[in-house]
Amino acid sequence: MTPIELELNSTYQSAFYSDKRYLFLYGGAGSGKSQFAARKILYRMLTEPGHRFLIVRKEKCHVKESMFTLLKDIIESYKISHQFFFRNDTMQITHTETGNEIIAAGLLESDKIKSITGITGIWVEEAFELEKKDFDQLNLRLRGLTESYKQIICTFNPMDADHWLKSMMDKKPDNLLSMQTTFTDNMFIDREYMDELIHQYKQNENFSRVYINGDWGRAYTGGEFYHGFSWTKHVDSISYNAALPLHITFDFNVNPYVTCCVWQIDNNHSGELKKAMQIDEICLRHPRNSTKQVCAEFRRKYFNEKGHTAGLFIYGDPAGRHEDTRSEKGHNDFTIIRNELRDLHPTMRIADKAPGVKSRGDFINSILESEYDGISIVINENCKNSIGDFSFLKQDVNGVKLKEKVKDEKTGGTYEKYGHTSDSADYFLTSVFSSEFDYFLNGQKKFNPVFGKKRSNNIW
Ligand SMILES: Nc1ncnc2c1ncn2[C@@H]1O[C@H](COP(=O)(O)OP(=O)(O)OP(=O)(O)O)[C@@H](O)[C@H]1O
Ligand SMILES: [Mg+2]
Repeated sequence: MTPIELELNSTYQSAFYSDKRYLFLYGGAGSGKSQFAARKILYRMLTEPGHRFLIVRKEKCHVKESMFTLLKDIIESYKISHQFFFRNDTMQITHTETGNEIIAAGLLESDKIKSITGITGIWVEEAFELEKKDFDQLNLRLRGLTESYKQIICTFNPMDADHWLKSMMDKKPDNLLSMQTTFTDNMFIDREYMDELIHQYKQNENFSRVYINGDWGRAYTGGEFYHGFSWTKHVDSISYNAALPLHITFDFNVNPYVTCCVWQIDNNHSGELKKAMQIDEICLRHPRNSTKQVCAEFRRKYFNEKGHTAGLFIYGDPAGRHEDTRSEKGHNDFTIIRNELRDLHPTMRIADKAPGVKSRGDFINSILESEYDGISIVINENCKNSIGDFSFLKQDVNGVKLKEKVKDEKTGGTYEKYGHTSDSADYFLTSVFSSEFDYFLNGQKKFNPVFGKKRSNNIW
C-alpha cells in the first residue's frame, strides 16, 4: 500500500503532534480548523490501535453537514473509501482492517451521550455552542485506560470573550494546547474566498474582528453600560510618555482585585489637553490585593524602573476616605496612598462624593460616541480588565451598572465580575474634566463664589 501524503497547513504542526488532553483550535473563518481536526482524527484512525472517536455538536442534525460529510469527503479524496464502512443513517465510519470507528452524537440528546462508552477521542465542532456543563459531561466520557492518548479537540470561532472557553484557556492549564489561526494560515484557501470573506465582514467591527482577525469578539446584547465603546476607536497600542504627568485612579474593592489604573493626558487634535489615554492597569489579586501593595507596584513600575519625574495626580472612589476595618485608626485608603507615595509629591484630586452612576455613564458615553467637548479616550491594548469592563459591563433597568456577581471557585466567596476598572475610570474622568462634566449635566459652567466656608475636615 502506498503511504498517503496527508496535506496539512504548517501552522498546525504543533497541534498535530500534541497529545495534550485538550486541543482548542479557534480563530477566523476559513483558517483550516475543521479540515485539520478531521485530518488529525483520520490519521490517528489509520495509524493507532483501539480507537473510538466521538464527533459531536450541540445538535446532532448539524453533525452530518459539517463533520460526517467532511470526513467522508477527505477519505474519498485519498481514494481509500474501500477501506471503510460508512453508515449514513447513524453517521458511523468504521475502518474495517483495524476496527477503529467514528461515532456521532448531539448534546441535546444528553441521555444518549451518558450511555456511550469506550471513547478514545472527541472532536467538538463549533464548540462555542456548548455550555460548560455540556463540555464537562463530554469530558467524563473520555476516561479509562486506552492504548493511545485521549484528546478532546474543540474547533470554534471566538465569538464572545465572555465565554467559558476563553476562561478555560486563560487559566493556561498544562494539559491544554490552544491555537489561534486566521485564513492567512491556510495555504489551501483561494484568493476569491479571501476577498469574499473580507468583503462580507469588513463593514461590521465585531464580525471583522472575529472572522477576519480571529480575535475574541463581543456578543452585543444591547444593554451595555458603555454602549459608545468600540475596539477600533478606543483601543490602541500606546506607551508611557515620560514628558507628561501620570494620573492614577483607584477602586478599593479587594475582590477580584484592588485596582489602580494609570492615565496620561495629551493634546487632542485642536491642541487642548483633552486626550485621555489609559496606559496601564495594576489589578492585584489575593494575596497582594491591598492598597499598600498596589502603591508599591505602581512605584516600582513608574519610579524605580522608569524614573518618572513629570508629576503625579491621584483620583479614586471618594468612599476610600472612610476609615474601615481594613485600615488602622485614623487611616483610610487615601492616607495609605499618600503615605506610600509621599516622596513623589502627589496632588490629591478626590471628589467630595462620587457622581451619580447614570450621569457619569451618560457623560462618558458621549465622549466615547462623539468626543464630547473635544475629549477623547484611548485604552492601551494591554489593559485587558479595563477593555473587558468597557465592553461587557451591562446596565440595569435604571441605567446604572449591573453588578453581576460571580463565585470564586477557590474561596467560595462572591464578587462583582465587572465594574472595578471602569469605576476607577469614571472617578478620574469626571474629576479631571469636572467643568466639562458640570456643563454636560447643567448646561452651564459653574463658578460659585464661596465665602468663609468651613474647611472640609477630611482626615487627609
Ligand atoms: N489541509 C487541507 N487540505 C486541503 N484543503 C484545505 C485544508 N485545510 C483547509 N483547506 C481548504 O480551506 C477551506 C477552509 O478550511 P476549513 O473549513 O477547515 O476552515 P475553518 O477554519 O474550519 O473555517 P470556519 O471558521 O469558517 O469553520 C476548506 O474548505 C478547504 O477548501
Ligand atoms: Mg470550520
